Amino acid sequence: MRISDRIYSVGVNDDEKDLFEGLWPLPFGVSYNSYLVVDEKIALVDTVEAGFEEEYLSNISEAIGDRAIDYLIVNHMEPDHSSLISYMMQTYPELKIVANPKTLPMLKGYYNVEPDQVHVVNDGDTLSLGGTTLRFHMVPMVHWPETMVTYLEEEHTLFSADAFGTFGAVAEDIVDNEDTFEQYKDEMIRYYSNIVGKYGGPVQTALKKLAAVQIDRICSTHGPVWEKCIADVVALYDKLSRYEVERGVLIVYGSMYGNTAAAADALAMELEARGVPYAIHDLAGNNESGMGISGALRDAFKYDTIVAGSPTYNANIFPPVESFMRSLSARMIKGRRFFAFGSYTWAAASVRLLNKMAADMEFEVLSDGVAFPQAYSKEKCDMAAVADLLAGEIR
Ligand code: FEO
Repeated sequence: MRISDRIYSVGVNDDEKDLFEGLWPLPFGVSYNSYLVVDEKIALVDTVEAGFEEEYLSNISEAIGDRAIDYLIVNHMEPDHSSLISYMMQTYPELKIVANPKTLPMLKGYYNVEPDQVHVVNDGDTLSLGGTTLRFHMVPMVHWPETMVTYLEEEHTLFSADAFGTFGAVAEDIVDNEDTFEQYKDEMIRYYSNIVGKYGGPVQTALKKLAAVQIDRICSTHGPVWEKCIADVVALYDKLSRYEVERGVLIVYGSMYGNTAAAADALAMELEARGVPYAIHDLAGNNESGMGISGALRDAFKYDTIVAGSPTYNANIFPPVESFMRSLSARMIKGRRFFAFGSYTWAAASVRLLNKMAADMEFEVLSDGVAFPQAYSKEKCDMAAVADLLAGEIR
């Protein structure tokens, strides 16, 4: 699809894959975006995931016919964008790889591309395609250490690798309209929290670095091309990477026989009655969203209070809940308020251990929590009182 006089989108949608990175559900699919910049010379910016060769070549051929591709710009080496590098080198034998020094061992290790097959660029370097100039900016850890972005000076266009990306397949017209940001916002937060969430600091560094650059168009590797919604998209990334949250409660839980689940549901009803914004996730993935930890991480980047429910299991935390807590820690999330609850049968351990994990992450643990024996009842686990506590404590 033609985006401007010089730029074509030649990427693909993946509606078949169940789990991105083998972990994260894709109920709305995902796109692997790739772009051609066409002048006297032609540059291809990133490739798509292996398995889409025929469609990819057809898209390229529709854009440039039988012209050769001169350069393949490798912004990011994760295989969802790089796994057709060898294929493209075979298909276009004159093609020269353009990449930065940190990419070299990955190119060799993944695809046996030798350093002398690569035109190496460093931060601030340019590449002329004729009347068109590409400038390269290193943005390490957004999302891998070798990641760079490419800026097309004449069109103020940023080929941003994963930055500003989102889950969700794209329409045939990939360029946004006024409504696109709201349509993708939840999936963009889920994408950020699941994939890039650990790297808030590097994202902030990259945003500051790019603040001096005029950006009229963002071509990410996932999701729509941003033109009209740029301000919203950049503001969201800024907010997420500063770990800024809103008033509200994230309830996460795991349950073996429904007792901890009943307590979680009771708390949700009490919060609802008090008008407190909340989200609730069964971490075994059995609730409405079916997105388990993936959806819960999204909401951990949204709300300032986290409530975790877990039965005691083998004298420990129920495994999906423990895994979620470790996922928060891995993303360096701090500064949340925290409350724990859960059932036990003969010895309570989960609530105490959850509180310890929360304290280790520098969360504010609001109380000792509620561990209740065997079946749930209002008398054993007073969620009205917990909701009062949370509603009173929420900033
Ligand atoms: Fe879409 Fe980090 O790759």
